[in-house]
Amino acid sequence: MKCKKCGKKAIAHLKAYGIALCEECYSDFYIRLVKRSIKRYRIMKKNERVLAAVSGGKDSSAMAAVLKELGYDFEMLYIDLGIGEYSEESERTVKNLSEFLDVDLNILRLKEYGFTISELRRKWRRKTCSGCGIAKRYIMNRFARENGFDVVATGHTVEDIVSFYLKNVAGGTKIWVEKLLPRNEPFDEKIVTRAKPMFEISEKENMLFVLIRNIPFTMADCPYAPKPEWKEIIYEIERRKPGFSKNFVRGLLAKKHEFQEIRHCSVCGEISNSDICAFCRLRSSVGDFHL
Ligand code: AMP
Ligand code: FES
Ligand code: ZN
Repeated sequence: MKCKKCGKKAIAHLKAYGIALCEECYSDFYIRLVKRSIKRYRIMKKNERVLAAVSGGKDSSAMAAVLKELGYDFEMLYIDLGIGEYSEESERTVKNLSEFLDVDLNILRLKEYGFTISELRRKWRRKTCSGCGIAKRYIMNRFARENGFDVVATGHTVEDIVSFYLKNVAGGTKIWVEKLLPRNEPFDEKIVTRAKPMFEISEKENMLFVLIRNIPFTMADCPYAPKPEWKEIIYEIERRKPGFSKNFVRGLLAKKHEFQEIRHCSVCGEISNSDICAFCRLRSSVGDFHL
């Protein structure tokens, strides 16, 4: 297979886009993909001071490398969660990443707040990950605010967004919409803007980029992470319907207003996502109820 752009040997066939590319053309393509996404959804601005949260995994390593490539003003933050060897390996990796990119790295340790995730594990068992998420969000936000950063950027991928949505909808839980958006503006002065510059990018795309560019990352998985069942389902759908995940998040975003603008019906006062609620519109269209 040959590269569609330059004719050299292709290393990847991107089914979602219907093209095959060589190493060099893939890197250019990938960087442009992220750049376009950041611009289109106004995820981050060039004059903002960004704190990039890095875990040592391929997704946040790729994110940091692209931000550097695109000329963003940023520093990195790694949180040592105290998960034994996994945390040690992650820390070594982000230190290498910091050197590789020549970007400052801040390291904060959960232990300084009096506990580790391994200790939490003994108490919370299966709920460890949600506790861990709370700790990470708290520390990222507080550190960013206290150190004058405008935005916290995380490496959440398109699969993270889709799996989060499907898992919650399938479980009958009311979804927390903010988690689905590429950028969250603060609703309180203590909150720092959150951005997901990779929200349209897939894990496979990130993986190819870090491999081609030799960007430091670790394959180590958190020992407490549950089986990624939803992600496996998404990969299977993606295999049969290339482009599914990207279309899915774009579709979700198009529905953002429906999610966000919960208002009250001007006729009956019940919850509504438009001026007049669907029930009042229904009544007026069928019976002798006039709006
Ligand atoms: P996860 O919650 O592990 O799926 O990670 C989602 C994103 O959160 C990553 O892409 C990183 O941006 C960030 N993150 C996860 N773990 C850490 C960590 N230990 N330190 C800093 N950022 C992290
Ligand atoms: Fe948080 Fe595994 S990284 S529980
Ligand atoms: Zn090429």
